[in-house]
Amino acid sequence: MDIPWWRDAIVYEIYVRSFSDASGDGVGDLPGIRKRLPYLRDLGVDAIWLTPFYTSPMADGGYDVADYRDVDPLFGTLGDFESLVSDAHELGLRVVVDIVPNHSSDRHPWFREALRGERRERYLFREGGELPPNNWQSTFSGPAWTRVEDGQWYLHLFAPGQPDFNWRDPEVHAEFLDVLRFWLDRGVDGFRIDVAMGLYKAEGLPDVEDQSFTSVSPVWGQPEVHEVYRQWRKVLDSYPGERMAVGEVWTDKAEDLAQYVRPDELHQSFNFAWLQAPWSPTAFKKVIDETMATVPFATWVLSNHDVVRHRTRYDTEDPGTGLKRAKAALLTMLALPGSAYLYQGEELGLPEVKNLPPEARQDPVFFQSEGKLPGRDGCRVPIPWTAGGASFGFSPGDVKPWLPQPEAFGELSAEAQTGQTTSTLEFYRQALTTRRDLVRSLPYTLEWLDSPEGALFFTRGPLTCVLNCGLEPVRLPPYESVLLSSGPLDGGLLPPDTAAWLNRP
Ligand code: GLC
Repeated sequence: MDIPWWRDAIVYEIYVRSFSDASGDGVGDLPGIRKRLPYLRDLGVDAIWLTPFYTSPMADGGYDVADYRDVDPLFGTLGDFESLVSDAHELGLRVVVDIVPNHSSDRHPWFREALRGERRERYLFREGGELPPNNWQSTFSGPAWTRVEDGQWYLHLFAPGQPDFNWRDPEVHAEFLDVLRFWLDRGVDGFRIDVAMGLYKAEGLPDVEDQSFTSVSPVWGQPEVHEVYRQWRKVLDSYPGERMAVGEVWTDKAEDLAQYVRPDELHQSFNFAWLQAPWSPTAFKKVIDETMATVPFATWVLSNHDVVRHRTRYDTEDPGTGLKRAKAALLTMLALPGSAYLYQGEELGLPEVKNLPPEARQDPVFFQSEGKLPGRDGCRVPIPWTAGGASFGFSPGDVKPWLPQPEAFGELSAEAQTGQTTSTLEFYRQALTTRRDLVRSLPYTLEWLDSPEGALFFTRGPLTCVLNCGLEPVRLPPYESVLLSSGPLDGGLLPPDTAAWLNRP
């Protein structure tokens, strides 16, 4: 069987607002991304995933779409998108775009019609009286219902500006099949499906006791959703060139995840269990074993635009630990069978920016929780490209970016790290290019080796990967040579918070 491109791909997530600004308005855009494509090719990634760049009032940074078939002027034009795809393809990079089917923007023409009292069946409107129709809460805090002028309520599992579609309405189905074709016709190689376990809500919208984002309930993970992905798969398969779809499925059970990647559904689903695992060899091993046992094509992810950057998650009182662990986790992840999703800036070792002032914050999570939750702005601070300048090269000239960057971003910039052999950026480049040369010759399986306390050792054919999560150095297993390590090795010993790739004897 030919191996599809996405099986082992490294996909680089571009949070469009924060990657690179060419227009000079302080917000990232498509021409800005186009300019940086050679950087991504040199980094060694196989594909880029673009977060939503569609027409949007930006109630949730673009995850509130008002027109699914156009580019918001903030990000450029449809022509810019087409040029971006064509340049990317020329450089050998695939392009995956986000699709947001659970909800639209409240400025979407369908919702405007609904507000006028017409064709409300495309959304979830209910009578409620003075109180909302049920006890569901918005994922961003506060009630999941907003009341309109005539007294009815509409459901929004996220911001009030993101009304949930009613997927029991056939028009919603037809619309999204058409949207998929629109972007496939423009050459996209795949889709990342936002809130893929949403879409359907249990009939009757009953009250819930536990509405956690990660478990199946009347709110999330209804079985009807699988029929949608079967239809989408048919559309993808009808196009030449291995078009794919990856689902954003938050679930606490590997078996639930497996449902989304049955042979006639999605190709992949994010494996958030890997990102949620604590720094522990037993926790990592459990996730790896469960993943390999339940899904045909594994994916791995450490950071994205919704979570605290992993460098910061792994921090301890010793300020150097987070970055050491982040590099070791990367090397381990890249040795696993399957595909890995990277988040922009992790190759620079960017930390979460925790001290953004309240007046700078933009995430609806911060506002809906009345400041109780910091929200996700800290992982969305614009990328530093140069060591100096008003925006560290993110925007042209003296323009200030939409979120303030800390001073420390200068020395973490791509410019400052390029050519520095011990930099995080050069480490990522080396790891990704080494993996690229190796990956197709490795079996799609792994074998555990006996590991000392605190460590995790496994092999894939000629490659051995070792990770030490413990407090003491551990002895390396027999090896012929060291291919790569995330930090210095101490003779035959692997220091704490370090990983390495070894050639087997
Ligand atoms: C997904 C996105 C997140 C967005 C939410 C609502 O979880 O990744 O950024 O806020 O969906 O669309």
